[in-house]
Amino acid sequence: MSTPSPRHFLTLLDLSPNELNWVINRAIELKNIRRQGTVYEPFRNQVLGMIFEKSSTRTRVSFESGMAQLGGHAIFLSSKDTQLGRGEPIIDSAKVISSMVDIIMIRTFSHRQVEEFAAHSKVPVINALTDDYHPCQLLADIQTFVEHRGSIKGKTVTWVGDGNNMCHSFMNAAKQFDFKLNIACPDGYLPNAALMASNADRVTLIQNPKHAVVGSHLVVTDTWASMGQEDEKKAREAAFVNHQVNPQLMDLAQPDALFMHCLPAYRGLEISHNMFDDPRSVVYDEAENRLHAQKALMEFLLLHPQTH
Ligand code: CP
Ligand code: NVA
Repeated sequence: MSTPSPRHFLTLLDLSPNELNWVINRAIELKNIRRQGTVYEPFRNQVLGMIFEKSSTRTRVSFESGMAQLGGHAIFLSSKDTQLGRGEPIIDSAKVISSMVDIIMIRTFSHRQVEEFAAHSKVPVINALTDDYHPCQLLADIQTFVEHRGSIKGKTVTWVGDGNNMCHSFMNAAKQFDFKLNIACPDGYLPNAALMASNADRVTLIQNPKHAVVGSHLVVTDTWASMGQEDEKKAREAAFVNHQVNPQLMDLAQPDALFMHCLPAYRGLEISHNMFDDPRSVVYDEAENRLHAQKALMEFLLLHPQTH
């Protein structure tokens, strides 16, 4: 009998809207379980392999702590120290690593590499950020919105800044969680055109942030220079100068609008120095929710992949 192929989480489109909502609700439950001090260890003797080709604070700490809290173990695999970083083919790495661990997360540059790894993996693979998508962050972001404001369905979100991996995942989230998304990116830094076109029913390009945020229930931004774009920093600072999120811009959104940023953030650039002190900012809840959302995601992929 052949073993069923594992479920992967490479983009938000890999789970159905029902499954994603199960993960969000479960994340909220797991947060309560942890707050109550209840020990819950469904993953005893299970191992998470964590492959990092880019830096991380939140993703590493949340996955590693999350796996430990669920009774399992996590191995940090930096490409600086593994044969993957010395050019061992992805197919060999995927076959070997997935024969020894139960679930794998990967942070790398090319999205294609994660797809290739997943295609040869015997166990679930989670995208922990590529140049194109950052779906785990969106689980935490939606959880945070739900906790503060209830369902995001039918709401309006505005993305301000670079048309990057986070912006792309917000487009997928708009589709899966059924909200409207305004995108305020300057010329030259627009998101993927095909993704915009395929979500044209709910994604609207409004390049001026002051116009885009009107009527929004959530405003989101991110660094102007993502990992791998360090050489472009100066040019990007000039291009994005009119795209800073600050309390004055937030005043143009809905009165109960929230502000999110996946972090790390650069004060004085994409946000003003006082933005995180504003009561509309929920960035630290958003960061903590990476822990709870990814625990729920791992539960889904390992324990319930066929049931929702
Ligand atoms: N938001 C996020 O993914 O943070 P890290 O780069 O610190 O993991
Ligand atoms: N867009 C950023 C997100 C960091 C979590 C980057 O890719 O560097």
